[in-house]
Amino acid sequence: MRRPVIVGNWKMNTTLREATTLAAAVRRDLERVDDVEVGICPPFVYLLDVADQVRDTNIRLGAQDCHWEPKGAFTGEVSPAMLKDVGCEYVILGHSERRHLLGEKDDQINKKLRGALAVGLTPILCIGELLEERERGATDAVVRGQLEGSLAGFGADALERMILAYEPVWAIGTGKTATPGQAQEVHAGLRAWLRKRFGAVADGLRIQYGGSVKPDNAADLMRLPDVDGALVGGASLDAKAFAGIVRFKDQSA
Ligand code: PGA
Repeated sequence: MRRPVIVGNWKMNTTLREATTLAAAVRRDLERVDDVEVGICPPFVYLLDVADQVRDTNIRLGAQDCHWEPKGAFTGEVSPAMLKDVGCEYVILGHSERRHLLGEKDDQINKKLRGALAVGLTPILCIGELLEERERGATDAVVRGQLEGSLAGFGADALERMILAYEPVWAIGTGKTATPGQAQEVHAGLRAWLRKRFGAVADGLRIQYGGSVKPDNAADLMRLPDVDGALVGGASLDAKAFAGIVRFKDQSA
């Protein structure tokens, strides 16, 4: 069985005070949840303060990006080892905002995955198509291309230590969610492709859905056979909404 994993991506939001207040509220609501794996990914500069808030709870800490090198002359960058050092377990890599707003490419994401795995972080590898790509029927080709590129040279042992997030770019921050049918179709296709390429390990891989996940649509998405959690942006900035998503089972009951 794949335990669902629901992670909040705070993106470039919150002040220090807002970050610690939000983390404390998430802790109050979710510190003992264990049917779902829960994580939060604040901005780099608040990681230590948020780590203090969620220490000794079931809530895991993650970062939103990292460089691939362990250290050195890379002004402005943060290494995987630094993230590990301040208590991170996850790192989000290849988010569409980095791909499309900052020009990040699959070969860079490939190196970042390698760097993150080398220090024992769990990468959350994001892939997803643009609206224009979906409309011309290119969704499968785009997401498989992203997988091919970012996973180049990796074996089953690496895939086993990752989480995948399918995030249709047209659904991120837009209030438009993929229908359950659309999400399941892509997730099942990804798993089938990964099974062919990496073998049975694909059956244990958790594939999150991301894109305008809210408390009122979470249950319908999470009950899909190949959807194993969510990467949540906007709604993760509201502790009640985030808790509502994590407790999706209560909603469907
Ligand atoms: P959203 O963002 O939930 O605000 O659509 C999702 C994401 O970018 O991970």
